[in-house]
Amino acid sequence: MKKILIIGIGAGDPDYITVQAVKALNRADLFFLMDKGPAKTKLRALREEICRRHIAPGHPHRFVEAPSPSRDTAPADYRASVDELNEAKQAVFEAMIRDEMNDGETAGILVWGDPMLYDSTIRNIEAIAASGRQSISYEVIPGITAVQALAARHGIPLNRIAEPVLLTTGRKLAEGFPDGIDSAAVLLDGEDTYRRFADQDVEIYWGAYLGTPDEILISGRLKDVADEIHRRRAEARQKNGWIMDTYLLRRR
Ligand SMILES: C[S@@+](CC[C@H](N)C(=O)[O-])C[C@H]1O[C@@H](n2cnc3c(N)ncnc32)[C@H](O)[C@@H]1O
Repeated sequence: MKKILIIGIGAGDPDYITVQAVKALNRADLFFLMDKGPAKTKLRALREEICRRHIAPGHPHRFVEAPSPSRDTAPADYRASVDELNEAKQAVFEAMIRDEMNDGETAGILVWGDPMLYDSTIRNIEAIAASGRQSISYEVIPGITAVQALAARHGIPLNRIAEPVLLTTGRKLAEGFPDGIDSAAVLLDGEDTYRRFADQDVEIYWGAYLGTPDEILISGRLKDVADEIHRRRAEARQKNGWIMDTYLLRRR
């Protein structure tokens, strides 16, 4: 039997790591790395920094790196392209488990933020376990999500008293603010979707590169700050070659 630890490492700051995650890092014999895109170097550096800080000096471990399959960026069918990407990732993970791990070993997968939020690692490892081709078991170790980092850095609670909060993507938000929901935390928005609501009475709490030295925070009435966020976002994306931003929209 081989063991996989799916470890949430927090969304940017190397201090966003739990004691449980540190213990998990020290249980792993090897780590699978599979980053892609323009942010690859920074994401890889954060993972290495976390391992350097938290793995005990005498604990032997190795890194196994595989190229991440890429997704069509303008697909006709978004859902089908994500399914295809995940099948390709499953094949890569399965090959690493089969070829790079010995029976009885434990491998760690370091997942940005928390593995339960807009991340397919759990689904992919579960699919490999369910296929029966590899004898594996897995555990999930939670991390600090981008949404938690956003709320903490702005010093706000996520919900109004006893009210719900929607966790959604820019793509879904583009369909409109759902009835009965006054607060929405938005991830994965490549299109500045918040601008569609700038004529409404809405507040925004926006954060980019949260927990990193490049962090940018802007908040206020959306109609007052939408243009500034749009400009700062475009400038930062241009300068760094990539951007990760999250925001809370709240109807006033
Ligand atoms: C694929 S999702 C992964 C979410 C992650 N599992 C989590 O728990 O936060 C990637 C999205 O998370 C958000 N995100 C992750 N890290 C962030 C950060 N440091 N600053 C701002 N947004 C971040 C962005 O919306 C980005 O598009």
